[in-house]
Amino acid sequence: MKTVSFRTFGCRLNAYDTESIRALLGRNGWSTISLKAEADVYIVNTCSVTHQADARARKAIRRLKSEHPNSSIVVTGCYAQRAPQEIANIPGVSLIVGAADRANIPEALDRINSDSLEIAVSPIEDAREFLEVPITEMMEKSRALVKVQEGCNQACTFCIVPQTRGRSRSRRPEFVLGQIEKLVESGYSEIVLTGVHIGSYGIDLRDNETDLISLISHILEIPGLARFRLSSIEPSSVSDALIELMASESKFARHFHIPFQSGSNNILDLMKRGYTRDEFVKLITKIEKLIPGCGIGTDVIAGFPGESDEDFQETFDVITDLPITYLHPFTYSMRPGSNAQVLGDTVSGDVKKRRTRSLKRLSQEKNLAFKKHHLDTIVDVLFEGDTRDGHCCTGYTDNFLRVSVDEEQTSRKIVACQVSGLNDLGLTGHPASNIDLLG
Ligand code: F3S
Repeated sequence: MKTVSFRTFGCRLNAYDTESIRALLGRNGWSTISLKAEADVYIVNTCSVTHQADARARKAIRRLKSEHPNSSIVVTGCYAQRAPQEIANIPGVSLIVGAADRANIPEALDRINSDSLEIAVSPIEDAREFLEVPITEMMEKSRALVKVQEGCNQACTFCIVPQTRGRSRSRRPEFVLGQIEKLVESGYSEIVLTGVHIGSYGIDLRDNETDLISLISHILEIPGLARFRLSSIEPSSVSDALIELMASESKFARHFHIPFQSGSNNILDLMKRGYTRDEFVKLITKIEKLIPGCGIGTDVIAGFPGESDEDFQETFDVITDLPITYLHPFTYSMRPGSNAQVLGDTVSGDVKKRRTRSLKRLSQEKNLAFKKHHLDTIVDVLFEGDTRDGHCCTGYTDNFLRVSVDEEQTSRKIVACQVSGLNDLGLTGHPASNIDLLG
């Protein structure tokens, strides 16, 4: 049997795309082995969100080739789509596959020739259909990602993703529901809905009137599903109906990740985000009021072109006052081809780094306050089995707090846990009682 190994960078979407390539290859006689083993082919699924992401991908490609000189190196993902020629310049790459060309990977692998390089990258702006690849198994034990939408029609000026993933296209609801039913049947307790812009779900499915709320309502009816979570969603897509649905359905995890990007109206305007600081504040305040204990994460960019000290301070102050429970701060990185390229890169590297560090500290403080709020309470944890902090087992609460316990736990079970302490990663505690979801 031919063997393949994967190295994945970037976001959850890329993690899902790797699973879909793995599933495709599995159906074509390929077996996945560990990155440490000697595989026939190594597939690097790249990210291109910053220039550091590009650099990390190049480093991984070179390293894999030097460690496995007799294996073939295949590169796909957002960097491959954005700049195939840059990747083609790296010695030892055999095949570069674009986002719209992933379905052809099995045939392309059969054509690999150690003496030549093939670039299979079609223009992504022409893609109009969601690439359907059924997946019934994931590398994670308890949670399964399900991609429902690809691409984005917005034009936020900092973002490269429309150029790497194309226009918005939705997966047909019957395929989404069918995949989730199979994943639940095979033992996954939590489903995480993912996409580039999940709020635009359904808009392109003209013959099939559906939207995100309707899709979620159907998902929540699937028998055996214990927990359902949304990945990142744009502020404009968080409707009252969505908040009310989360507030009223116990399976719907109390967790939003809503990118803010900046708390300065000047910068939001330059970014073309389509909302103001006050609109964002109103939204987060409403969520906190209607969904007590909701985990609310956000993304913030430090050092966007034109961001003055005052702009940054406004961002810092407004986030300090909001019930945000964690931040993902990003240092602005000008992306060739993005609309912000014309604005230049006006904030110095040192200032960007200082602002990013301030946001990281703010995130830690806010997350610590949220964790402390859970001390001496009982929380429901879906265990994943793995641990990074010396404890026996870890898992997550619905509001996205990591909990570690000393007793071995079966993954795929939600267990009520008494919280007794905190550590850097989250909460510590012990099981209070077991609720066997596999019944
Ligand atoms: Fe994700 Fe990076 Fe592409 S964040 S969408 S893999 S540019």
